[in-house]
Amino acid sequence: MSKPLSRLLRLEQTAFLARDRAAWGPHLARVRSFLGEGLQAADPARPVLILGAGSGLEVPWGLAPARTTGWDADPWSRARTVLRHRRWAPWVFEDLTGGLEDLGAAARRAVAEPWSGRHRDPQTAALRLAGLVPFLRPDPAALRTWIEAHRPGTILAANVMGQFGAVAERVVEGAFGKASPWAVEAERSDPLVEALEAWTRRALDAFLETLTGSGAALWLIHDRGVAFGPGPLDLGPWADPWTAQLRGGVEGLEVSDPLTGLDVGAALRAAGRDPHRQDRWIWSLAPDQRHVVEALASRPAAG
Ligand SMILES: C[S@@+](CC[C@H](N)C(=O)[O-])C[C@H]1O[C@@H](n2cnc3c(N)ncnc32)[C@H](O)[C@@H]1O
Repeated sequence: MSKPLSRLLRLEQTAFLARDRAAWGPHLARVRSFLGEGLQAADPARPVLILGAGSGLEVPWGLAPARTTGWDADPWSRARTVLRHRRWAPWVFEDLTGGLEDLGAAARRAVAEPWSGRHRDPQTAALRLAGLVPFLRPDPAALRTWIEAHRPGTILAANVMGQFGAVAERVVEGAFGKASPWAVEAERSDPLVEALEAWTRRALDAFLETLTGSGAALWLIHDRGVAFGPGPLDLGPWADPWTAQLRGGVEGLEVSDPLTGLDVGAALRAAGRDPHRQDRWIWSLAPDQRHVVEALASRPAAG
């Protein structure tokens, strides 16, 4: 993983941990309980893998079997986990999408003319990048290789899938420096935003395909949606599309989908898995920012 990418993830995580966590109690209790259940159900004779392990704020490492490995591209994640849990676990610091290096390189190529090094104006650079991104194919090769080598019995994804798109945006912004890559007029559709959403979807599909192909028990927790604004927010029955689960509709709220339309539960079932446990709740991250969190446990169907 390159230095700029490591730095970016470290800054993201530092900003996350610096937020006011006073109202996070109910979320932390539920996420720890769900991931703790996965760790306790894991076969201790087989390796366990925790993806998006971060600083361990959400991960009850005290319940993790001896052969548990953490995976997070933030270079400080392991040290922070040691400080929080006194647990020095084996760790992998690779990019889970396998595509951020290529994305950063494409963004730098779009920003500066390779022959002169001269910077293009931001709008031209953004359009150029929007034309390059559809050719990028994020491939989680490092994750696949690790799984093939270690054959984990249980894999936890601890709030990382919903981060892929946000981190991709930060990578692009990093290449643009002080200029903004995003279209100024909010009403106009932004080709770069659309291209990055499609990139995120490819990254998520490839990631999930790697997990479902691993043969491991999966305990996945992720942001199903993010609602901005002060309007009321409550959850109705499970439904597809997920916005239909928001009771009373979405009036007064701006709702975004970090999973770019991916229905994780449907993808698990389509892969022949047995989803034996599902849960959802609202996480009030900040006064006007609420996340719908989805927790899904599945095992390969008995064959
Ligand atoms: C919301 S935080 C999860 C917090 C974590 N579960 C904890 O208990 O502290 C998301 C984590 O995913 C990591 N991450 C985001 N994108 C990543 C990627 N492409 N590859 C590897 N790690 C990534 C971040 O560094 C961050 O630690």
